[in-house]
Amino acid sequence: MLPAAGRVVMVSGASGGIGNAIAQCLHNKGYSVSLGARNVDKIGPWIGEGDQDRLMSHVYEATDREGNQAWVDATVERFGRIDGLVNAAGMGGMANLEDEDEDVFDDLWQVNTKGPMRMIRLTLPHLRASGSGRIVLVSSLSGKRVTNDGTGYALSKFALMAVNHAARRAGWEDGVRSTAVCPGWVNTAMAKNAVGIEREDMIQPDDLAELVETAIALPNGAAVAELLVSCSLGDLF
Ligand SMILES: NC(=O)c1ccc[n+]([C@@H]2O[C@H](COP(=O)([O-])OP(=O)(O)OC[C@H]3O[C@@H](n4cnc5c(N)ncnc54)[C@H](OP(=O)(O)O)[C@@H]3O)[C@@H](O)[C@H]2O)c1
Repeated sequence: MLPAAGRVVMVSGASGGIGNAIAQCLHNKGYSVSLGARNVDKIGPWIGEGDQDRLMSHVYEATDREGNQAWVDATVERFGRIDGLVNAAGMGGMANLEDEDEDVFDDLWQVNTKGPMRMIRLTLPHLRASGSGRIVLVSSLSGKRVTNDGTGYALSKFALMAVNHAARRAGWEDGVRSTAVCPGWVNTAMAKNAVGIEREDMIQPDDLAELVETAIALPNGAAVAELLVSCSLGDLF
């Protein structure tokens, strides 16, 4: 496995359940972590209690192109390198196939697909320079199969899977490896409307964070393209 010390990972959605767990896990294992959040005050007190030499935060709003570049620039200025990008930021929202109003579809596309795609574009030069750059995209089982009426969400996550495979191709020769993590229900705010499943039976964010760290730590010769993680038996495709 690759050592964590000296490696710098950016994590978007660091104020959310999954992104926050991933950022804490990476910090605890010795990585330097640059946390991106719409509101950095929502990250939590742990960021003030950790090793300040290995932590920074910056505003990340998926739709703000200039702000995205500013986060990358600030990370390089602070740590001098970028070895990993984890995109955990994302939104839910119901947009059904037959909805006349397409605004939610557009929002989902901007936040869940174009935001991560842009962050890959902006960080790829640094990930290539690393020689073992890592990209982890938090997608969803909704990026693998359609089992409900949330068509817009599924569209955005299916498209994110295409982004993942495009990133694998773009970075391969320079040691960049990209992994899409596709969970079912995860015990976070986004799952507040889940029916028929108890919170404790969902995937826990800390468990997902361990998988993400493993994907980042695996050597170039053991690339994991997709990780499908479920908390219930059901069709995966
Ligand atoms: N929870 C599940 O059951 C589940 C299942 C499969 C996949 N996922 C995916 O997992 C990822 C993380 O979700 P979560 O479960 O941790 O939910 P969450 O707790 O609601 O976190 C979502 C995160 O995304 C951020 N975000 C939302 N809109 C954004 C925008 N326009 N720009 C930048 N950041 C934005 C949120 O920021 P604020 O704190 O400012 O709102 C928050 O940090 C998402 O991509 C989601 O699609 C979740």
